[in-house]
Amino acid sequence: MSKITAAITCVHGYVPERVLSNADLEKMVETTDEWITTRTGIKERRLLDTPGLATSDMGVEAVKGLLEKRGITADDIELIIFATVTPDMVFPSTACILADKIGAKNAWGFDLAAACSGFLFALQTGAQFIENGKHKKVLVVGGDKMSSIIDYTDRNTCIIFGDGLGCVLLEPNEEGNGVIDSVLKIDGNGRHFLHQKAGGSLKPPTIETVQAREHYVYQDGKSVFKFAVKGMADVSAQIMERNNLSSDDVTYLVPHQANLRIIDATAERMGLDKNKVMINIDHFGNTTNGTLPLLMWEWENKLKKGDNLVLSAFGGGFTWGAIYLKWAYTK
Ligand code: UT7
Repeated sequence: MSKITAAITCVHGYVPERVLSNADLEKMVETTDEWITTRTGIKERRLLDTPGLATSDMGVEAVKGLLEKRGITADDIELIIFATVTPDMVFPSTACILADKIGAKNAWGFDLAAACSGFLFALQTGAQFIENGKHKKVLVVGGDKMSSIIDYTDRNTCIIFGDGLGCVLLEPNEEGNGVIDSVLKIDGNGRHFLHQKAGGSLKPPTIETVQAREHYVYQDGKSVFKFAVKGMADVSAQIMERNNLSSDDVTYLVPHQANLRIIDATAERMGLDKNKVMINIDHFGNTTNGTLPLLMWEWENKLKKGDNLVLSAFGGGFTWGAIYLKWAYTK
């Protein structure tokens, strides 16, 4: 019997309608469209600004679309892995809330926190349950309502992030398509450069933490940039080398969308032309756990069975890594 691999058999996404443009931000903080565009590549991002809606609600929209496209029901899902840094609540997990909202009565699941590398880590985790034969339908969700933890008076962070979510279905494949290899890394020393200071067990919420604006994302951008450029390029080159992939063999790089300059450096290290790099940072900004599935969703119609994709990410923790994936279907 041939080896079972975990293939993506469907992908879908959701972004809220409300657009926050660079021109809007010029009115909120001291910045310019020119600065944001040249330093990050971002023109606009989406915001989930309807009161009462959370990360799980974006999940409901995306998963509904996925189930319809694949022609299955929520009852067919056996496992939900939800990668997010903006869970609806500290507990229960957003996977539980999503399962309830979509009516996935036969699924178990959990949240996975690895900041911007969360979807990558969740994809590898989900793949294990397919490869070992335990499950036949695993839903991997990645997304964030970043606007819930962004300080819109801090120009260092508010220009970067946006809200959005994507999801993929993993199923067994015996043709050699799906997740082939991964290189995943963490370095907790990086926690000093990118974090949310309060709200966890180290610093529970108090009036003082709220007044000090410690429930928002803190980022030392320059330091993170330095580690991200090297980290993302290193693992992407390593996964190519390990799998004997030349730049001609790679159909697309699917990179985390933190900064266009980081993406360009990674593509350059891999020897890839611009047309082989998926980019949505210009219109969605950095959607944290949403970037990779949203990219595959937007590119789904261009992808062909057997295409070689390298997924790559870097995020808070630090966490980073790359996955080599063979696309399993042509639409
Ligand atoms: O996704 C998770 C991982 N995150 C990342 O990978 C993000 C990595 N970091 C970055 O992408 C970049 O560091 C940023 C986009 C966050 C910042 O870009 P930068 O080129 O590193 O700028 P900087 O922080 O070095 O700031 C340069 C200057 C500073 O002014 P002075 O000190 O040179 O006078 C900042 O105060 O730009 C100023 N500045 C701004 N000016 C206009 C910072 N933010 C802004 C702004 N508009 N929004």
